[in-house]
Amino acid sequence: MVTSSAFVVSLISGAAAGTSTDLAFFPIDTLKTRLQAKGGFFQNGGFRGLYKGLGSAVVASAPSASLFFITYDTCKTYFKFKLPILFPNLSISNSNHLSHMISASFGEIMACMVRVPAEIIKQRTQSLQFNSSLESFKYILLNKSGEGVFKGLYRGWGTTIMREIPFTIIQFPLYEHLKLSWAKNENIDKISPIKGAICGSIAGGIAAAITTPLDVLKTRLMLNKERINVFKLAKNLFIEEGFKVFFSGIGPRTMWISAGGAIFLGVYETVSSFLVANNNIKKL
Ligand SMILES: *[C@@H]1O[C@H](CO)[C@@H](O)[C@H](O)[C@H]1NC(C)=O
Ligand SMILES: *[C@@H]1O[C@H](CO)[C@@H](O)[C@H](O)[C@H]1NC(C)=O
Ligand SMILES: *[C@@H]1O[C@H](CO)[C@@H](O)[C@H](O)[C@H]1NC(C)=O
Repeated sequence: MVTSSAFVVSLISGAAAGTSTDLAFFPIDTLKTRLQAKGGFFQNGGFRGLYKGLGSAVVASAPSASLFFITYDTCKTYFKFKLPILFPNLSISNSNHLSHMISASFGEIMACMVRVPAEIIKQRTQSLQFNSSLESFKYILLNKSGEGVFKGLYRGWGTTIMREIPFTIIQFPLYEHLKLSWAKNENIDKISPIKGAICGSIAGGIAAAITTPLDVLKTRLMLNKERINVFKLAKNLFIEEGFKVFFSGIGPRTMWISAGGAIFLGVYETVSSFLVANNNIKKL
């Protein structure tokens, strides 16, 4: 049963978590984008203007994180009840893992409605193709690329989801599992924010490192002037720049996501525990 107050807890906690993380790690994210861009780090700005593109990240982070958590928490409640009926022979722990994976995947798909356009605008500004997020946005809105507004805003949508789903399928069950094994006989809803943060950090770092090649493909698709098929792009990259290109930016990516995971989930648990404690409601 999804109550409206539990819904508000997910919404506010998710928004607070997303915004804090994006603000704290923006410069590292910029370095990562430039390492992955065609031509390499220095041709795409080096250490100059590390906060270019911050505007689009700030505007998008609260709505996309809220969308994620609303969907995640709602699906989790639903599947927790539904999966044991569908698969009576599944053990409770496997059924929970499966429920976390499915729920997080739906969460990512919803979050991508906001995240994909914001990423395109942000990454083009980070790699100094534009002077500001606003100019980068106008370029798409005025159809200057000639690909149409909708297609322009959702370029790389498929690849982003191809990156997010494996990421989340690794991260969330790992996170919930670490949390559960650490909480032992404590109430899982009242796990300390620091424990939540450490679990989030480990889970995020592992997932980030493994999914780096998909992240490189996504960055290149979004930065490219012309539309290009993702398989053709992967083949070209391999031929022209070799295997190692698929792991460019792995250092900053792993670092910011594991540190970011700590802040994201730490803030999420703190804010939601606070709201739950002060309003006498149950978490989803
Ligand atoms: C599920 O468990 C029941 C009872 O233990 C068994 O009879 C049945 O064959 C199992 N079904 C599957 C699909 O394994
Ligand atoms: C950014 O602004 C500078 C100075 O106003 C201008 O010379 C340059 O062409 C602009 N760059 C882009 C990509 O619009
Ligand atoms: C965008 O520009 C292209 C090429 O100029 C044109 O074919 C297309 O119809 C335009 N799309 C929109 C939505 O204006």
